[in-house]
Amino acid sequence: MTENDFLPIQYDNLPAEGKVAWKAPSNIALVKYWGKKANQIPANPSVSFTLDACATTTTIFFSRKEDDSQFSFDLVFEGEPKEDFKPKIQTFLERIEIYLPFLKSYHLKIETSNSFPHSSGIASSASGMAALALCLMDMEKMMNPEMDSDFFNRKASFLARLGSGSACRSIEGDLIQWGEHQPIVDSSNLYGIKYPFKVNTVFKNFHDTILLVHKGQKQVSSSGGHNLMHNHPYAERRFEQAHEHLDSLKAIFSEGNLERFIEVVESEALTLHAMMMTSMPYFILMKPDTLQIINKIWDYRKKTKTPICFTLDAGANVHLLYPESVKEKAIQFIQDELVAHCENGHYICDRIGTGARKIG
Ligand code: PMV
Repeated sequence: MTENDFLPIQYDNLPAEGKVAWKAPSNIALVKYWGKKANQIPANPSVSFTLDACATTTTIFFSRKEDDSQFSFDLVFEGEPKEDFKPKIQTFLERIEIYLPFLKSYHLKIETSNSFPHSSGIASSASGMAALALCLMDMEKMMNPEMDSDFFNRKASFLARLGSGSACRSIEGDLIQWGEHQPIVDSSNLYGIKYPFKVNTVFKNFHDTILLVHKGQKQVSSSGGHNLMHNHPYAERRFEQAHEHLDSLKAIFSEGNLERFIEVVESEALTLHAMMMTSMPYFILMKPDTLQIINKIWDYRKKTKTPICFTLDAGANVHLLYPESVKEKAIQFIQDELVAHCENGHYICDRIGTGARKIG
């Protein structure tokens, strides 16, 4: 599909008012998206587990207005008006307007909240933009009831991507691939798709315990971070490596090979951080506790042969990944050894999920 396939047909019935509500999850990348071209086109393909507990719930109350020359919206975040989020939403609406041309005909009251604590250092842009895109798609579906659910999800992913790249992987579950990759025939730079190859059951109920090492603001925004990949000395080799990792995951997923899964996932996490350390300007986003946790995971794995590994996003928090079969051991290990490295002892127990849900 191309961008033009997402341009809408003529709408016949614009409802006078109404309400739509969606809950969309966050996701954690196994092969990381880091580096982008114009229009939110990724420089390399990525694949992620859709999460379950970390999610954004968004409700939009919409009403027709006379003046359709500009966007009109209010934003309420966790019960309070939130002016500083508005520019990001305004930019998003501007980017998607040609795909949803009814937007300026409505006043939107957007109410949104996250299941995870504010300023936990967990990025809410993926779940937030996915929930918003789904609400807006639901409005479009009222005007075009014939739309089927595959197209609905695909266009929601396409729109979410224009808000925040990784958000396009937060529409469906449980393993989502985004970005052109030749061996995956349906892969696209424009939207995420369900991972199309065989996935062993061991990966079907994976856990992700997020160890909150540092809850503060990130040193570098994600768009700032992506820009660091322009003129980066190792960028091209890194983009190739993402393709190679995606290729190796095919057999790993199909066979349920946890040993090799761990190698790819941990290498991806450290490569992401290595890219930040070797860019200009350079950043170290890990904290001393991040490294202590990583070392404890490695020691524990060596000693006990338990298949627990880590991944990181563009910050200091550690995502601890493990299969259902070792859940009790993992929780014990976290409590005995890792909680001490979390800010105020905080961590979030999440797991692989099935995707966003309509809630109203
Ligand atoms: O969606 P963005 O622009 O916030 O980028 C997210 C990038 C990483 O989280 C670091 C990796 C990924 O693939 O999610």
